[in-house]
Amino acid sequence: MKAEAPQTIYLKDYTPFGWHVESVHLTFRLAPNSTRVLSKIRFAPNPDAPAQDFFLHGEMLKLIGAKIDGATVTPDVTDEGLTVTVPSGAFLWEAEVEIDPKGNTALEGLYMSNGMYCTQCEAEGFRKITYYPDRPDVMSTFTVRIEGDEKVKLSNGNPQEAGEGFAEWHDPWPKPAYLFALVAGDLVNFPGAFTTMSGKQVELNIWVRPGDEDKCAFGMEALKKSMKWDEDVYGREYDLDIFNIVAVDDFNMGAMENKGLNVFNSSCVLASPETSTDANFERVEAIIAHEYFHNWTGNRITCRDWFQLCLKEGLTVFRDAQFTSDMRSEPVKRISDVIDLRGRQFPEDQGPLSHPVRPESFQEINNFYTATVYEKGAEVIGMLKRLVGDEAYARALDLYFDRHDGQACTIEDWLKVFEDATGRDLAQFKRWYSQAGTPRVSVSESFADGTYSLTFRQETPPTPGQPEKAPQVIPMAVGLLNPNGDEVLPTTLLEFNQSEQTFNFSGFAAKPVPSLLRGFSAPVVLDREAGRDEQAFLLAHDTDTFTRWDAGRQLARETLVDMVLTGATPDMAYIDGLEAVLRDETLDPAYRALMMGTPSQSELAQVLADRGHVPDPDAIWQAAETLAQVKAERWTDLLPRLAAEAEVTAPYSPDAEQSARRALGAAVLSLQTRLDGGAAAETQFGRADNMTLQLSALSNLIRAGRDDAALKAFHDQWQGDRLVMDKWFGLQIAATTPEKVVPRTEALTAHPAFDWKNPNRFRAVMGAMMMHHAGFHSVDGAGYRLLADWLIRLDDVNPQTTARMCSAFQTWRRYDAGRQEMIRAELERIRSKPKLSRDVDEMVSRILGA
Ligand code: PHE
Ligand code: ZN
Repeated sequence: MKAEAPQTIYLKDYTPFGWHVESVHLTFRLAPNSTRVLSKIRFAPNPDAPAQDFFLHGEMLKLIGAKIDGATVTPDVTDEGLTVTVPSGAFLWEAEVEIDPKGNTALEGLYMSNGMYCTQCEAEGFRKITYYPDRPDVMSTFTVRIEGDEKVKLSNGNPQEAGEGFAEWHDPWPKPAYLFALVAGDLVNFPGAFTTMSGKQVELNIWVRPGDEDKCAFGMEALKKSMKWDEDVYGREYDLDIFNIVAVDDFNMGAMENKGLNVFNSSCVLASPETSTDANFERVEAIIAHEYFHNWTGNRITCRDWFQLCLKEGLTVFRDAQFTSDMRSEPVKRISDVIDLRGRQFPEDQGPLSHPVRPESFQEINNFYTATVYEKGAEVIGMLKRLVGDEAYARALDLYFDRHDGQACTIEDWLKVFEDATGRDLAQFKRWYSQAGTPRVSVSESFADGTYSLTFRQETPPTPGQPEKAPQVIPMAVGLLNPNGDEVLPTTLLEFNQSEQTFNFSGFAAKPVPSLLRGFSAPVVLDREAGRDEQAFLLAHDTDTFTRWDAGRQLARETLVDMVLTGATPDMAYIDGLEAVLRDETLDPAYRALMMGTPSQSELAQVLADRGHVPDPDAIWQAAETLAQVKAERWTDLLPRLAAEAEVTAPYSPDAEQSARRALGAAVLSLQTRLDGGAAAETQFGRADNMTLQLSALSNLIRAGRDDAALKAFHDQWQGDRLVMDKWFGLQIAATTPEKVVPRTEALTAHPAFDWKNPNRFRAVMGAMMMHHAGFHSVDGAGYRLLADWLIRLDDVNPQTTARMCSAFQTWRRYDAGRQEMIRAELERIRSKPKLSRDVDEMVSRILGA
């Protein structure tokens, strides 16, 4: 247990900092274990702030000396920062500190990755670089001088003077310290250029380690497309002479939007056909767009405090989703996002880690970079747009950029913009930001005298700290079909904002069939006790691509639940209904590939728990296996047809059209393997000239237990490529059968290439284990123990990544008493580790409900 109770920070306690920062000058004298950072910072009193001591954040810093207006001072220094007496007016603060980038394994602040210096300052990493008011509402211009022998030395803004052993940068745009960045190393660039809408030339670069230049072309194109798209769709122009992206191998997250100098996990920017899958390419494109879009939503307009994180993240995720829809397929993107939301955000929102999109308290802010803040935050923006309409949304965004450029804002500012632009009262809508939990919507219907009525009820279950919930504004998009399958009411948006509400539609000769929550118009669980006939009907006829897909998904879910609970055989109406859809060659192959998917086993466990059953992971695994087997046997005629359609003869391109066909091909191959024991997969493995085909083949060989030779061949081919080796590590766990999961994971942790301090490698292995539902929940508790052992070990090295992975245990209360007891014991064991980090302490305590 921790010695002192960790401190909780509350939104309600916000107070502005007592000074403005007028300018920041930093000099870095780089040395691996003893970098000197010299700061010159001009402070001036902030007349709008209450009186307070002058406190600067600072952690892990060795203070060499400090001066105020040129006179040496001796501040009062603690582990968290320093306090010093300052003049009543404006003054110049100067400090020299020493830091240890090489010894920094937490990857926050200034650290080293493969001999290269880089920084990560969001959320509170800048305080590990120098003493500073490290809070997002303190904004300033930065001038940075870097001294060192490295060939390349980068920081934010525009380059100034450079010469032998030094480089200077100036960022004219005031920014919070979390957007500061510095990179230095012997890097090479992949160059590009962009001309903005007003004719300004911008130099673009992707900086990588020598040898990775051939993996940059795709990212560069994605960057240019993003810049153009933000001009076309949001009217936002880039505002510096240069935009740099750097690829880093050791990184806790996906990427970081530092002003003019984005730093990327190399897995999120490097891509080539031989080493990256179609999904990797799509992700690279989306993340480059995401970080670029932050230039306006996050950087030019930033957050007042970290409680407002969704202000930049929800909006930027929403924007990158719009971009992906425009670049690729809108229905496919929407369905993929809903799968992701249900797979990651719903379990969070329905368990002990549930928190509002705008949390009201935290101990460690790093624990709140969550699916709720990001993905539900984006859903909330989507609902707002649906409610006010596209034209009003565009007007509101223009007003937001006009009114708040250069400011650090709150959700109140954001909503006020919409209220002013539309005249709408958003007081009730605001509950989406303050109320945690996933609303459950139930539906009943009636039909009399040509009038069809839909009655909705909403209820949000209690969440930690929020026993009572008030009704939310739920935009409910509905359509109605008549019994012969024609649409008789096109998509109509109902504003469902009471606990219970009835909507009437008149003029029907026969009772219509409702198509509800079209486009997934709100992040809710729809509890519709409709018959399977209705779902089968919608699967065949719905005009809305989302609800049509979801009808198939619900049929799959219901048959799997039956199979688990009663040992029933699969519902042939579902399998045959699905077949009809799969045979429709007018439908996008990617859409049909999504249709072939079934709810995840974890999702099924939740459904069973919600219905009062204790989920048995082995039984769920078995049901999923049986369903796939029955499909494969039923579709012996269909599968070769689809395989032919999926064939790509043109040279590889990661575009939507080709990836769609490969996605369909992969879905077909996984069924085919159940019939041929892996013969087709082996052929594909032998012929594959791109990673997408190579990996789907390997996955099926693993699944079929024919993997020894293939895994060895793959290893020998790719052992020099870290990103591909992450796939090799992860896939042999992810694609195997439950009983092999823990032993394989354990064996892989002993592999010489298991570089567990690298977050990508650690996640490849441990993440694959925890995502394998039946394998991780092995009844002897071996999965729980193995994960806890490694989390305990990683905590001393990298608390942030450790804390994120504790979420594997968040669903523990779904399971039987024996499993619950074993998980509780592991959580307690983690909690009693000596010197447990604040990050992990908070996560484990919340999961335990302590
Ligand atoms: N702000 C980054 C993004 O969403 C995520 C991030 C957070 C990266 C914290 C690093 C550290 O784009
Ligand atoms: Zn972001």
